[in-house]
Amino acid sequence: MSRRPLGRKEWDVRASTLAQNTHNTIRSIVENLRVEPNPQKDLIALSIGDPTTFGNLNPPDQVLAAVRESVESHASRGYAPAKGQQEARQAVAEYSAHQGEVTADDVVLASGTSHAIELAITALADPGQNILVPRPGFMIYQTLAVGLGIRIKYYSLLPDEQWKVDIDDLENQIDDDTAAIIVINPSNPCGSVYDKQHLCEIVDVASRNHVPIIADEIYEHFVFSGHKFHAISSLSEDVPVLTCSGLTKRFLVPGWRMGWVIVHDRHNIFGKDIRNGLNNLASRILGPSALVQRALPSILKYTPQSFFDEVILFIESQAKLAYEELRRAPGLRPIMPQGAMYMMIGIKMALFPSIKNEFQFVECLVKEQSVFCLPGKCFEYPNYMRIVLTVPEAYLREACQRIIIFCKEHIDYGEKRKEVANDDITVPHNIEVL
Ligand SMILES: Cc1ncc(COP(=O)(O)O)c(C=O)c1O
Repeated sequence: MSRRPLGRKEWDVRASTLAQNTHNTIRSIVENLRVEPNPQKDLIALSIGDPTTFGNLNPPDQVLAAVRESVESHASRGYAPAKGQQEARQAVAEYSAHQGEVTADDVVLASGTSHAIELAITALADPGQNILVPRPGFMIYQTLAVGLGIRIKYYSLLPDEQWKVDIDDLENQIDDDTAAIIVINPSNPCGSVYDKQHLCEIVDVASRNHVPIIADEIYEHFVFSGHKFHAISSLSEDVPVLTCSGLTKRFLVPGWRMGWVIVHDRHNIFGKDIRNGLNNLASRILGPSALVQRALPSILKYTPQSFFDEVILFIESQAKLAYEELRRAPGLRPIMPQGAMYMMIGIKMALFPSIKNEFQFVECLVKEQSVFCLPGKCFEYPNYMRIVLTVPEAYLREACQRIIIFCKEHIDYGEKRKEVANDDITVPHNIEVL
């Protein structure tokens, strides 16, 4: 005799709230762009921050050899501890000595820096709490937090001050439910690199308000001449910092998905709670690829400094090229970056009356000139677009020429518009997003 079913009477399977509320803004904007490039011109994509796209930037032999060796090793085929192999964590600790005193016990390995950020956010924040995120800023924080019911509050960066943090605004955003302040340095999308004094100002705000910092330092050491990278953890006396980084950008291997979070807690404010929490959360996926973990000590120890220097030199010369070229584009205001691999470009929309907003500007640019830049919308920052600097030089040069032509074709200096030409790059007011 068959039992009467106790479950539902009919099929009713739905995506969970988390699944429904998880959105990756950049991916969806890029994937949903509905315009076709001009068939007469090859598409030049300056949109995606993947330095491997064009094949012009490659990791050095030492990095490839380390993974080859790992493939041959029996030990790289088994499960590793969820927080990562001891040798790999030890290697990350040594590599990260500039951040302050770090031991292997302070390191949790993750599947890319995004996963490290997820570990950091979910270790600190509960649903209903909020995290403070820079605007403009990389949007992974929204993607990770919003579905979990963790609120995003923005603090402003100042475009006219090399994208420094508006310190008053940062402090004004803090409330009883603020679980962490996110600091992205060097910044995606701005390319800013904060000096010691400014980082100390940020740390002071965190200290006064007893809020921990999550430091996204994926672009650590990606710094142009005349600037210096300081790990924010190295400047903090009392504020606990979770620093997130990884192999992705500096070693040019985003697809290998290797990142880490490092706990800096000199005054034992986190106690065991947060460390245990991070370990518990790491066990949700049983740690990142053992194959890359096993290669990590060699990668971190034996990659020659000359490799890093060459990559940075290249990106810096690309930044100069794009800056000099795009300064000649009427209606645009490029902002010279100090590091990372991006440039933000202000668009004086009032001078392009036939174009509604920066999103449409970017669409028309694809349609007419086959150049794809990322609209400011991707960073909650209208009237700007971001370009990636890692593309081959000839492509960048060509893209800049096409952007200049596009601007010349669409610019309209009506009398009234001339007056607003210098100050129409408006910055959004702070809004809170669930
Ligand atoms: C500021 C920032 N944080 C995190 C990430 C994600 O890094 P990963 O690819 O290692 O997950 C990126 C990637 O572009 C980034 O720009």
